Order: sequence, then structure tokens, then C-alpha cells
Amino acid sequence: MPLPKAELHLHIEGTLEPELAFRLAERNGVELSYADTEALRHAYRFEDLQSFLNLYYELMAVLRTEQDFEELADAYLARAAAQGVRHAEIFFDPQAHLARGVEMGTVIEGLWRALGRSVETHGVSTKLIMCFLRDESAESALATLDAAKPYLDRITGVGLDSAEVGHPPVKFREAYDAAAALGLRRVAHAGEEGPPEYVVQALDLLGVERIDHGLRSVEDPALVERLVRDRVPLTLCPLSNVRLRTIDTLADHPLPAMLEAGLMCTVNSDDPAYFGGYADDNFTAVQQTLGLTEDRMRELARNSFLASFLEDDEPRRAR
Ligand code: ADE
Ligand code: ZN
Repeated sequence: MPLPKAELHLHIEGTLEPELAFRLAERNGVELSYADTEALRHAYRFEDLQSFLNLYYELMAVLRTEQDFEELADAYLARAAAQGVRHAEIFFDPQAHLARGVEMGTVIEGLWRALGRSVETHGVSTKLIMCFLRDESAESALATLDAAKPYLDRITGVGLDSAEVGHPPVKFREAYDAAAALGLRRVAHAGEEGPPEYVVQALDLLGVERIDHGLRSVEDPALVERLVRDRVPLTLCPLSNVRLRTIDTLADHPLPAMLEAGLMCTVNSDDPAYFGGYADDNFTAVQQTLGLTEDRMRELARNSFLASFLEDDEPRRAR
């Protein structure tokens, strides 16, 4: 039985499995530049974050209708439930859809069709986090927040993702201030490929409550001390780090040292359809490859609930 856990770093578009991509492509009359699912899977060899993002954005072309987003989310929730996930805080990238002429309402209402019944159908409670694409402009982020205003009852927080280097958190100060004024929680990707300074900026300038990835924080001892002292959760994604070549092999992952240092680490899947594993696959991989004890594994699971945006009066386990 997999440990009960919360998943806090999961891009719903990154759960698009090749089989579903081809089914939706056929249904929507979208031409894919791969002959079949096997050819597509062959393309899952990435050099870095950007080479992954190119494919990630390309495949999104198959997502067009509410039903598409519903089926995508429903398939993820079924897989997550089987891996012990009891609560999922799910990222989505509206700018990538708006740019293709798919409306905000189509994305959110479609996802909500699956999320709204997920406790009943999958035993998984959910929250939605809307991400700004950091390689788009600050004005575009503000316009996206504006477009989301009719759906604020569906959205718990905002995040920041896409190509990191050259797009520091400071660029999105205004958008994050505006999100906070709307009562939204704040997280941001930082220190995945970007320097520790981006983690500091996300904390100081964007007011984030969690850092997504935060891997490169380990290069700055003063930052590590601060993250430990303030119990700032890091949503690590070990299999993602290997696939995007942030680290050479899983055996090199600093997770054991990070836990030893007292950092509040969580383990998540990021884009599981692309990186070879869902939530518990990541748990199992780090346990086996890094030799983490049962106590450490339970700490990771406990951290995932503590670091979640579940309120005290919400059930930790859906059933
Ligand atoms: N969007 C989807 N996955 C991402 C990742 N690992 N880093 C940044 N942006 C992303
Ligand atoms: Zn991510």
C-alpha cells in the first residue's frame, strides 16, 4: 500500500499521456507530428527544461474543449489515487491555452467537472493553482489574472512556471501583489535551473508560501538557514530533475542532505506523463536509490499535508 500523501507540484498539462494525446487529436482533428504513441514516447529525451517545454506546449494543441480538460484531469486523479494521493494541488497554464484561442472558462470549467466530483469518484480532494508563464510579459500575467476573476471561487492560488533563467521573480511583483489583494495564495517555481537568488526574490518580492523545486537553494548556506528557520516548504520533483538533467543521476540527488539539514521537503511528480513516474513512483525511486529510512518516507508524506493549503477544518483524508 503506498503511503497516503498530498501532491503539491503537478502540472495538469504534464499528465497528458501519449494515448490520450492521440485520442484527443483524432477527436478534435488536430494533426500531430508523430506517427504514433511509440514515436511520441521516443521524443521524451530532454536536454534541459526548454527542450521539454517545447514538446509540452506543442502537445497541448489537442486540448480544446471542456470535455478534453475534464478527461485529462479525471485520468490524472485516477492514477494519483492509485498511488496513495489523497489531496492534490494542481497547476494549470491558462496563457498556453488562451494563446490558442481556448477560453479561460473552457479550461477552468472543464477541469472543474473532474475536480468537483473527485472526492466522491477518486477519494482525492483538490485545489487549483493558476500559473503565470514567466517567459511571457508582466502585462500578460496581469491580463491573465483579470481573465480569471469570474472564476476565483475555483482558484486557490497563483504560481509561476515555464523557462526560468532570464525571467526572475521580480518581473511579476505587480501580478503577485494583485493576486494577494484578491485573497489568493502564492507559490513560485524557483531554483530549478535558476540561481538561489531567484528563490530569495520569490520569498522577498512575491511573498510566496512555498518554493516549487528550490533545488539550487543548497548552493547558498544562508538561504538554507533561512528556509530551515522559517519552515518554508520545497516541492521537490526528483524524477523531473533527472529527466531535465538538472542532476546527472538520481543517486546524486541532494534530498537526503536537504532532509538532514532540516529543510521541509516534499516529493512530487511535476509532469508525470513526460518524466516516467507519478507521485508514488517518485517516493519509491528516492527510497530505493537514496536509501531513505521508513521514518524519512513518513516525514515526506507528513510534510506534504502540512505544506498543503488544506485548512484546519478540511478533512486530510477524503475517505
Ligand atoms: N511547466 C511544466 N513543467 C515545468 C517545470 N518543471 N518547470 C517549469 N515550468 C514547467
Ligand atoms: Zn513544475
